[in-house]
Amino acid sequence: TKGAAMVTAVASRLQAQRKQIDKVLALFRLTQEQLVGIRNKMRVEFEYGLKKDTHPLATVKMLPTYVCGMPDGTEKGKFLALDLGGTNFRVLLVKIRSGRRSVRMYNKIFAIPLEIMQGTGEELFDHIVQCITDFLDYMGLKGAQLPLGFTFSFPCRQASIDKGTLIEWTKGFKATDCEGEDVVDMLREAIKRRNEFDLDIVAVVNDTVGTMMTCGYEDSNCEVGLIAGTGSNMCYMEEMRNIELVEGDEGKMCINTEWGGFGDNGCLDDIHTQYDKEVDEGSLNPGKQRYEKMTSGMYLGEIVRQILIDLTKQGLLFRGQISERLQTRGIFETKFLSQIESDRLALLQVRRILQQLGLDSTCEDSIVVKEVCGAVSRRAAQLYGAGLAAIVEKRREDQGLEHMRITVGVDGTLYKLHPHFSRILRETVKELAPQCDVMFMLSEDGSGKGAALITAVAKRLQQTQRE
Ligand code: GLC
Repeated sequence: TKGAAMVTAVASRLQAQRKQIDKVLALFRLTQEQLVGIRNKMRVEFEYGLKKDTHPLATVKMLPTYVCGMPDGTEKGKFLALDLGGTNFRVLLVKIRSGRRSVRMYNKIFAIPLEIMQGTGEELFDHIVQCITDFLDYMGLKGAQLPLGFTFSFPCRQASIDKGTLIEWTKGFKATDCEGEDVVDMLREAIKRRNEFDLDIVAVVNDTVGTMMTCGYEDSNCEVGLIAGTGSNMCYMEEMRNIELVEGDEGKMCINTEWGGFGDNGCLDDIHTQYDKEVDEGSLNPGKQRYEKMTSGMYLGEIVRQILIDLTKQGLLFRGQISERLQTRGIFETKFLSQIESDRLALLQVRRILQQLGLDSTCEDSIVVKEVCGAVSRRAAQLYGAGLAAIVEKRREDQGLEHMRITVGVDGTLYKLHPHFSRILRETVKELAPQCDVMFMLSEDGSGKGAALITAVAKRLQQTQRE
């Protein structure tokens, strides 16, 4: 009987623990009703951003990009592209052949050390120019004067395709003296300082826009670009008549929504958990980019880490011991989340991954960790789905259609690597925008190729204007 009593005691303790864990996981579960509410709020923020009166205070900035058309297949030539702001910094040479719509690319990845990401603007741009120099040397192109497209994946206010004033840094960047400055000027000045070569900087492009363009090159129905990677953002083609910040009513222009800032006015507070708050407070830009911090690769691992710390404090994980590793920011990269959540992985392998991260786990621990990862990434995918549903519904209504087909070009490590993210995203859009038929098209190297395509189009327009 003593043994039986012990068994019951253990069982009820386990039950109590399970309850506590479930209570935490439940915070991340969104009901259909909540998701509909989020979709509707996002829609309201879109309209605020587009309207002149409300734009200055809008949290979803809806920035005009001056990209007005898709490539038509006649573009050709050799272009340089820079890609700054994603997982890697890259310099690319892109050769576009007209007619066949074929593109060849050569690229080199360069590291941007933390002290440069968070140093001075001059240092950052000098470093970029150094990388361009290395690339040109490497490709045997020294002295070549190629048109350049600059994919700069941060919010920029544009007055033309080749001008972009950085509004504020997001994600992991914080270089000084850049906010409020034109990034094209900063690049030009750095090239001048180096005094070795000249480049013709034709376009500055957000990664979402590059992604949309790349997919639009193959599918003319592609009118949305989505990034689910280090950061979270979306762009789409909007009717000129709805864009109050730009003169003219004819045709369309691509809008960079910068939806990462959704929620910065408190409108998501009801789903914001204590863990989200901790992640926000520990970030480079507290109070900013709330939606991005609930959805993108740079932060999901951090949310998971905050939950694990709390569960450990409650004695529900890792034998109640908070290791130094667990206290280290950034240990859970997207790739680990993706591995942990892979269905093909046995729990023993999950434990091995945790081991690699320096976390000693029991079998029960690994189950809980996997559940936590699942809850966080599921919420992220659903939030993305709600945002995307808002834009496709808006496009459908604006065009007065009963039913609409649209293609979304997508890029980003979270979308590409995570075993469940893309499926949950698709399912959510389907539920929240049932009158839209949304096709997802994976963009192969969207930001680099897209920058080159936009540069090619801009170059062609420049020439026709001159003639
Ligand atoms: C951040 C940037 C945005 C970019 C996104 C994805 O949200 O502000 O410009 O598109 O990350 O890289």
